[in-house]
Amino acid sequence: MSKLERTLILVKPDGVERGLVGEVIRRFESRGLRLCGLKIVRPEKALVETHYAEHAGKPFYDALVDYLLSGPVVAMALEGENAIKACRATMGVTNAADAAPGTIRGDYALSIEKNIVHGSADAESASRELAVWFGAGEMV
Ligand code: RTP
Ligand code: MG
Repeated sequence: MSKLERTLILVKPDGVERGLVGEVIRRFESRGLRLCGLKIVRPEKALVETHYAEHAGKPFYDALVDYLLSGPVVAMALEGENAIKACRATMGVTNAADAAPGTIRGDYALSIEKNIVHGSADAESASRELAVWFGAGEMV
């Protein structure tokens, strides 16, 4: 079934550092997704911890939080039919070594630790994460 959805995408610090922001946006826009929020931020640690709360206590959690704090992050809200699933497919699987060519991770990354982008996993995460990164009035 087709659903109009909004999802949160982050270009993580390695993607920003490598100059891939435009390429990431181009791929989502070309697919038909519409930008409804966009900003570049140096997030506070508390914001990153809230964003990744589901991973607290896992062996990779501290490194993951440090990674998100290592440089500017570009946050965007994208809207479209089945946007959550479509964005995850355009990104490729978490471990970039396994990501298919043609996906963002499959074309631009090699590891699970530095994998360029984040995308919300489901509708509940999307609504929670959009509220973490965008204040009232920051999305159109
Ligand atoms: P994301 O949340 O960033 O969109 O990635 P995802 O859903 O594909 O993967 P998730 O399981 O939510 O993991 C979040 C991020 O944590 C890092 N990670 N490292 N070293 C490891 O085993 C490991 N596992 C996950 C990755 O940066 C992953 O994107
Ligand atoms: Mg995730």
